Amino acid sequence: MLEGKTVLLTAGPTQEAIDPVRFISNHSTGKMGYALAEELAKEGATVSLVSGPTALKAQHSRIKTFPVVSAAQMYEQCRQLAEQATIWIFAAAVADYRPQVVAPKKIKKNSDTLTIELVKNVDIAAVLGQQKKPDQLSVGFALETDQEMENARAKLLKKNLDLIILNSLNDSGAGFQHDTNKITIIERDKITNFELKPKLEVARDIVRFIKEKIHV
Ligand code: CTP
Repeated sequence: MLEGKTVLLTAGPTQEAIDPVRFISNHSTGKMGYALAEELAKEGATVSLVSGPTALKAQHSRIKTFPVVSAAQMYEQCRQLAEQATIWIFAAAVADYRPQVVAPKKIKKNSDTLTIELVKNVDIAAVLGQQKKPDQLSVGFALETDQEMENARAKLLKKNLDLIILNSLNDSGAGFQHDTNKITIIERDKITNFELKPKLEVARDIVRFIKEKIHV
């Protein structure tokens, strides 16, 4: 059981404003993160769910949702919650870049081309990873189109993660906007493969895996 443990969990996409009516975002629905939140709470954990905009609503009473919109807001919220959490799970699809300038008024289509300068967002998992203590477990996700193992392993090290959950895009039925997922869990010294399954069952597999790690 995960009773007495607090989990910091990010989920959903982030939205980066271009002007008052437009933003840059991605196709994340938040399903995987919300499914994880429910499973963790069922196992007794208290979950701080820092969520970008989604159509979902957490059900379990042990889940407290902290709604955010942008990557900067998600980082700020996580920074406040990280120290008190034993487990960090970064399931959000954070926008890597944001417009350098947010236009104060709606951009009019006055010219044939429009260039928007983007600047890099904070890497939430990596920055928090620098302050991770030995009794804290950090879990990240990776979605890769090529050289998936090498890239996922590089992320594990760069972000000081203990586990990285690789979502394969090379399997039909896996990834964004599907209800199924096929994952591989990568640790520094071990790789564990799972079958293609509904996201709810994938969430159960991940929570089972994390529970074992917390006990060792
Ligand atoms: N992540 C994060 N903050 C960001 C970007 C990513 O916390 N600004 C987390 C994600 O939640 C995920 C992990 O880092 O757990 C990997 O995210 P991914 O987008 O695959 O990696 P990036 O570092 O953005 O690398 P790239 O897009 O270049 O593949």
